[in-house]
Amino acid sequence: MRRAMAEAEVGDDWYGDDPTVNRLQDRAAELTGKDAALYLPTGTMCNQIAVHAYVRSGHYAVCEATAHVGRTEVNSSAVLSGVAFEYVTAPDRGLLLGEQVAQALKPDPYDVAVVDLVSIENTHQVGGGSVMSPTGVRDIAAVCADAGVPLYLDGARIFNACAVAGVPVADYAGAVSSMMFCLSKGLGAPIGSVLAGDRDFIAEARRLKILFGAAWRQAGIMAAAGLIALEQGPARLPDDHANARVLAEGVAELLPESIDADAVETNILFVDVSGTGRPASQWRELLAAEGLLVTMIGGRIRMLTHVGIGQEEIQGALGAWRRAIKAA
Ligand SMILES: Cc1ncc(COP(=O)(O)O)c(C=O)c1O
Repeated sequence: MRRAMAEAEVGDDWYGDDPTVNRLQDRAAELTGKDAALYLPTGTMCNQIAVHAYVRSGHYAVCEATAHVGRTEVNSSAVLSGVAFEYVTAPDRGLLLGEQVAQALKPDPYDVAVVDLVSIENTHQVGGGSVMSPTGVRDIAAVCADAGVPLYLDGARIFNACAVAGVPVADYAGAVSSMMFCLSKGLGAPIGSVLAGDRDFIAEARRLKILFGAAWRQAGIMAAAGLIALEQGPARLPDDHANARVLAEGVAELLPESIDADAVETNILFVDVSGTGRPASQWRELLAAEGLLVTMIGGRIRMLTHVGIGQEEIQGALGAWRRAIKAA
């Protein structure tokens, strides 16, 4: 990947003439089955451009109550687009249902609240890397089509969902108006995400990309890594999922009430330490002292597997948990 980056053929992406960026965008469009795609620095920027393109200031977007776009990014969309979110709590691990979306899209009898967009997240991060099935996505898509509201897919980890569902990414992409996926995260590129959609949407997204300051000139250096991630990354995701399961089973043995290992479908796991008498912040410090760095989200401990984590690292992480529990 580093060699490909060093040798990348580049141009100026402001003018759309960086050949490596263009190759990546063409490949992403081909894989998703969408008209066109746009290479962007981050998943957040993909989401924010989509929100800005679809949702008028003062109008609503509907999303799951713990979705990245509506929670972590809520300040971004407030300042960049002046939009509001209507949150819907999914019954199971962040996975919205068609009937819930239908309820959220019922017209406001007073004609004040207007919904311009529905956004779904697959896999769902805070839901524990949970997978929405292609049928689940199509149910929501049918509801959105009936209401005439576009459906956007935050597919930061859509290839993880594809690996579990056993479908090509085009199956998910075909059901939604537009989508994004991250080349960083599980696919293993150091940087970059891709937005995909119809020609008009991507033309507007490109305009917004420049407006938001992301015309990143000789971006082909990064796109070269993205192309490799896109070609080679998806095939190795089942290894990440298997490693996450081993880690979850190991933690479940050490702290039995803290995690349901069977619910770990992909590369994300959450450890609920509320029954230990110590807050997650203390566990984070104890684990860091043992050489394991973890994230804290909503009072739970989050761990992820990726291309840099193999069986040895999983056993190392379990060793750190064992020592932290002893030290607690
Ligand atoms: C579901 C989801 N969407 C979007 C993002 C944002 O991606 P980035 O960190 O590349 O901005 C993340 C990051 O964790 C995420 O988990």
